[in-house]
Amino acid sequence: MSTLVTFAKTRGFVYQGSEIYGGLANSWDYGPLGATLKENIKNLWIKNFVQKRKDMVLLDAAIMMNPNVWVASGHVGSFSDPLMECKDCHTRHRADKLIEEALEKDANFTLPANWAGDKTPLEDLNTYIAGGPIACPNCKSKNWGEVKRFNLMLSTSQGTTEDATALVYLRPETAQGIFVNFPNIARSSRKKIPFGVAQCGKAFRNEITPKNFIFRTREFEQIEIEYFCKPGTDAETFESWLQEEDRFFTEVLGFKKENVRFVEIPKEGLPHYSKRAWDFEYLFPFGWGEISTLANRTDYDLKAHMEHSKQDLSYFDPFDNTKYIPYVVEPSIGLSRLTLAAMCDAYDEVPGEEWTSKIVMRFAPQVAPIKVGVFPLIKKFAEPANELYSLLSEHFVCEYDEAGTIGKRYQRADEIGIPYSICVEPENYNLGQVTVRDRDSGEQEMVQISELVEYFRTKGC
Ligand code: GAP
Repeated sequence: MSTLVTFAKTRGFVYQGSEIYGGLANSWDYGPLGATLKENIKNLWIKNFVQKRKDMVLLDAAIMMNPNVWVASGHVGSFSDPLMECKDCHTRHRADKLIEEALEKDANFTLPANWAGDKTPLEDLNTYIAGGPIACPNCKSKNWGEVKRFNLMLSTSQGTTEDATALVYLRPETAQGIFVNFPNIARSSRKKIPFGVAQCGKAFRNEITPKNFIFRTREFEQIEIEYFCKPGTDAETFESWLQEEDRFFTEVLGFKKENVRFVEIPKEGLPHYSKRAWDFEYLFPFGWGEISTLANRTDYDLKAHMEHSKQDLSYFDPFDNTKYIPYVVEPSIGLSRLTLAAMCDAYDEVPGEEWTSKIVMRFAPQVAPIKVGVFPLIKKFAEPANELYSLLSEHFVCEYDEAGTIGKRYQRADEIGIPYSICVEPENYNLGQVTVRDRDSGEQEMVQISELVEYFRTKGC
């Protein structure tokens, strides 16, 4: 991971946030390549799940919502993690994560009574911790304070006063913006159930132990879908989304199949709103980590908002003249985690000469932040190369580079994952053709300039 973090910073994928002020704990900024990579992934998701489907629409709701939204959704009451503090060094930790880590290191490790991950009852965690199986990862002491529930909602105040009436939360999930707009969307879009609403945007959680680079942060991005269906059809809708998510990760984003797995969450580990859920995990350098959760949220949220808002959020189905509260299947993905997964999946070290290694980012063309490199063979050929750059940058994100030998430029292009590079020299250019080099095979091919756009399109750029 540390190699990737250093690489990400040097090449402009991800920087430490507020670096010149010594940073802010666990805050990260996406640099030119990281921002474009994340945008590409988001756009592929929108293209696949919104543009290409007649049963999907897009929404962009506000981050700050009426606080009653979060009372109704259950987040104010129960969106919390078990927190424990070391009485000696005063560091704070998630009890469930320390237990899981101990279990990973020693398979014979026994778990607390009624173990249910972060949902394990506090009294069981406290009895267990008092028995002394867990040492503080920071100072190795076993002198723990009582395990308490810590609410993960981040809040701020809106307007000119800072009293309780001005309190607003920063949304911990984008989903609720979709639920509260369900009648608006159904009415204005004229979609009939089953249909889904997709939303991309920032979410905030006051995580106790943010870690692993951009994997778990307090500010992150989600790409979520709430798919509304008729009660009774939710099980089959769930199955179809399992397949859709699999297809998205392995075909659309082109992740290696062996790096993705799907695991069913046991009943005791399900969030308060969920009847059934599967996690999609990616094999990061630190182990398997969740990138997405597919949940059957039933009618929990719409019902809760009906109760709290006293508004009718039910749906009249014109196909059979029935009225019901729709069920919801939710494929929820962490865009920040997905961007990290894309970087891990692409990262490759090719043993070079003299014991050096060359890094090649093998992004699939559709995912790559920059699609085409345009390089004049020598600086003197800048004019035709610039002409070509203008032509291609109408269609693709391109990189122009004239510094150093052509070999060095190919190497720089490989390092940032540019799938195709063009070397421009006048002899071929005047004949209306250029050589295109393939990043992965290193092979070069002569292509007519008039066919270049189509050529890169068919390659998936
Ligand atoms: N609306 C459902 C929901 O929010 P979740 O499993 O809590 O479900 C969905 O979150 C996804 O959001 C996760 O699979 C993960 O990819 C991402 N996510 C959650 N917390 C995160 C954090 N602190 N940092 C980065 N990504 C996070």
